[in-house]
Amino acid sequence: MVAQQQPGDLRHARTGIELRPGLDGVPATQSSICDIDGDQGLLTYRGYPMQDLAANSSFLETAYLLIWGELPSSDQLADFEHAVQMHRRVSFRVRDMMKCFPASGHPMDALQSSAASLGLFYSRRAIDDPQYIYDAVVRLIAKIPTMVAAFQLIRKGQDPIQPRDDLAYSANFLYMLTEREPDPLAARIFDCCLMLHAEHSLNASTFSARVTASTLTDPYAVVASAVGTLAGPLHGGANEDVLAMLEEVGSAGNAGAYLDEAMQAKRKVMGFGHREYKVKDPRAVILQALVEEMFDRFGHDDLYDVARAIEREAESRLGPKGIYPNVDFYSGLVYRKLGIPRDLFTPVFAIARVAGWLAHWREQLGANRIFRPSQIYSGSEPRSWMPIEQRVTSPAA
Ligand code: CMC
Repeated sequence: MVAQQQPGDLRHARTGIELRPGLDGVPATQSSICDIDGDQGLLTYRGYPMQDLAANSSFLETAYLLIWGELPSSDQLADFEHAVQMHRRVSFRVRDMMKCFPASGHPMDALQSSAASLGLFYSRRAIDDPQYIYDAVVRLIAKIPTMVAAFQLIRKGQDPIQPRDDLAYSANFLYMLTEREPDPLAARIFDCCLMLHAEHSLNASTFSARVTASTLTDPYAVVASAVGTLAGPLHGGANEDVLAMLEEVGSAGNAGAYLDEAMQAKRKVMGFGHREYKVKDPRAVILQALVEEMFDRFGHDDLYDVARAIEREAESRLGPKGIYPNVDFYSGLVYRKLGIPRDLFTPVFAIARVAGWLAHWREQLGANRIFRPSQIYSGSEPRSWMPIEQRVTSPAA
């Protein structure tokens, strides 16, 4: 049935429910995974403050916490780390498939395709079996970094490097990507970045994951749909654009003029703004400290001066609207110092966020009802089909 709408009416005719573009402020689920206080700039995973996790935990421990709800005992963590280590390799068939991808293709597209391809190898009919769920979690957390690193080498015309069993999760990823064993501080900072990006409530890609999960499809399809959603420049893709912007601005002295011009042209400043935060994103605060730690140890990057100048100049221009740096503003500077190519910044985000997606997958399965929202129809009234010779060319054609 077509709901009758008056022009400009933003309420559903039958239910009277107001349309909120982008579902702004509309609760779409109940969740016990992550909480954000956007006025205070507070972020907790399962009740633990982000700052405490970043200082004391590891990415795999944090992933365990997110997915199973409690911090692991040392035996549980050792088992989980071991299981992940045992599943890092990907089938030669997946690697061969990746060799057929165009080298010029974006690594997020390669990741989405290869993540989806895992569903071909593992049965999808057991999502109510706890062992299947555990195995799927382990496989996805273990194999996503291997696939990201593999595509990087494949597109350079090289064979992927096999994971090294003596290296921990983050160190192994950096090794597979750069072909060099990383400095322990670099590996620790990278691991911290993964923790910061692991979960963030019902952001676009997590919502996408939950919608896909609600159809009871397999977890590889859940993750592949979320990867596709993360890729966009308003979401995970912003971290790439931030570096391009810093390079375009070029020097700290140009920051004010750049912002004025962007605001006049009504252009978004990349790495700024967040639906949930009205203050500086707490993850940006931690990342900025990590950037400085990186530079103290491995040398300064002048783009950091540009970034700080933009943040300073933006305070008076965007601050009154509650627009401050978000997680993407400083992450690219860390990744750049780690030698990660720019178009891998968003795949790195995906390596981390897979933990949050899987936590939401499990939660969704625990109390599932398929997502099927309504819409406010604004199209034509019912009309009669017209033979082709009587039609005039429509302006849209
Ligand atoms: N630069 C300039 N103005 C902005 C910005 C920005 N980065 N973000 C929001 N605004 C303005 C916007 O122009 C609008 O102004 P007005 O009311 O005068 O028209 C107002 O703030 C509300 O903007 P919105 O786009 O309706 O806000 P939203 O909650 O729908 O969007 C956002 C949130 C993150 C998509 C947006 O802030 C944005 O596009 N930021 C730049 C891209 C970015 O950094 N994305 C990464 C987000 S954090 C990590 C992640 O989720 O992946």
